[in-house]
Amino acid sequence: MTKGNAFVLGASGQVGRASVRALLADGWEVTAASRGGVRDEGWPEGIRSVRLDRTEEGALAAGLGDGCDVLVDIVAFDGGHGRQLTGLADRIGSAVVVSSGAVYEDERGRSFDTQDEPDGFPAFPVPVAEDWRTVAPGDGTYSTRKVALERELLAAGDALPTTLLRAGAIHGPYCPGPRELWFVKRALDGRRVRPLAYDGRSRFHPAHVDNLAELVRLAAANPGSRVLNGADPEALTVAEIGAAIDAVMGVESETVLIEGAPPEGIVGLTPWTAPHPMVYDMAAAERELGYRPVVSYAGSLPETVAWLTGHLAGRDWREAFPNLAKYGVDFFDYAAEDAWLASRA
Ligand SMILES: NC(=O)c1ccc[n+]([C@@H]2O[C@H](COP(=O)([O-])OP(=O)(O)OC[C@H]3O[C@@H](n4cnc5c(N)ncnc54)[C@H](OP(=O)(O)O)[C@@H]3O)[C@@H](O)[C@H]2O)c1
Repeated sequence: MTKGNAFVLGASGQVGRASVRALLADGWEVTAASRGGVRDEGWPEGIRSVRLDRTEEGALAAGLGDGCDVLVDIVAFDGGHGRQLTGLADRIGSAVVVSSGAVYEDERGRSFDTQDEPDGFPAFPVPVAEDWRTVAPGDGTYSTRKVALERELLAAGDALPTTLLRAGAIHGPYCPGPRELWFVKRALDGRRVRPLAYDGRSRFHPAHVDNLAELVRLAAANPGSRVLNGADPEALTVAEIGAAIDAVMGVESETVLIEGAPPEGIVGLTPWTAPHPMVYDMAAAERELGYRPVVSYAGSLPETVAWLTGHLAGRDWREAFPNLAKYGVDFFDYAAEDAWLASRA
């Protein structure tokens, strides 16, 4: 007796692999869908994997066949994707869809979309809850498109009960843009100095793939129309993250704390660095789904560090981790770092 059929769209990615694993362990029959149809080594033979590109007309409908009890959509990015799912509501019992914490906007109208403007980084309450305001839905940016997606799916109500998970900074094995690399590569390269802007106190709430998968598992078993934050039990500061990674890698380094913004170019800027904290309130997930995190940030690190060290293995970091390269900055410009360090002497 299984719990039913679960269809995971985006199954071969970091969140997909963990979600498939969690659903299987909970007794679901799982279909794993992605364009490449890549299978995780840990998946049992029985699991059906299908190749499909959701952007191809009719491909998702064909992949769903007679339908599923729950659809887990990890690669939905806009209102059109929302309408794609609601258009198939007669074949989908309920849905769990990954959104993003990037949807929030502060009281001055600042959001991730304004972060590159002077004083443009948003300042949110700590922690920020799901009923906090968001950017307006639209086609303009990643954030506005995610809000459009959320609105489409929430408007469907009982026709397609959907849990939207606003994920924090996702981390874990198979991460295409691992923020951890900022520290891991420095340790591998023998660099023992870590300049950190904003006194190393930046907090950008991480979300481990297994914690997100736990939320997926709980939401799959408890369908509803709702929005929930998705993050780890704790939001460490960037200095604490660095210390935890150094401990896993067995290195000791010197942290140079910089008061305020990067003094020169991107010296002291990590992928978590920001002038204001971004911490997500997990109380609603605890209350509504009984969510309890399955792993802590520090507890998850040994596996992540081992995976990303192996994945980097002598390659250019931009090639190994394309989503980190998308930031368009050289996180490993050691010459600039050294020049700034020397200028202080
Ligand atoms: N990274 C973050 O810190 C962060 C933060 C908040 C929210 N999010 C959200 O997290 C989600 C991404 O999850 P992830 O990190 O697990 O992604 P990922 O590791 O990049 O994996 C994406 C998966 O989707 C498949 N895929 C991509 N395009 C597809 C398409 N058109 N049709 C079918 N399958 C497709 C990919 O395989 P193929 O390439 O073989 O198709 C892969 O299985 C997004 O919704 C993003 O907005 C990310």
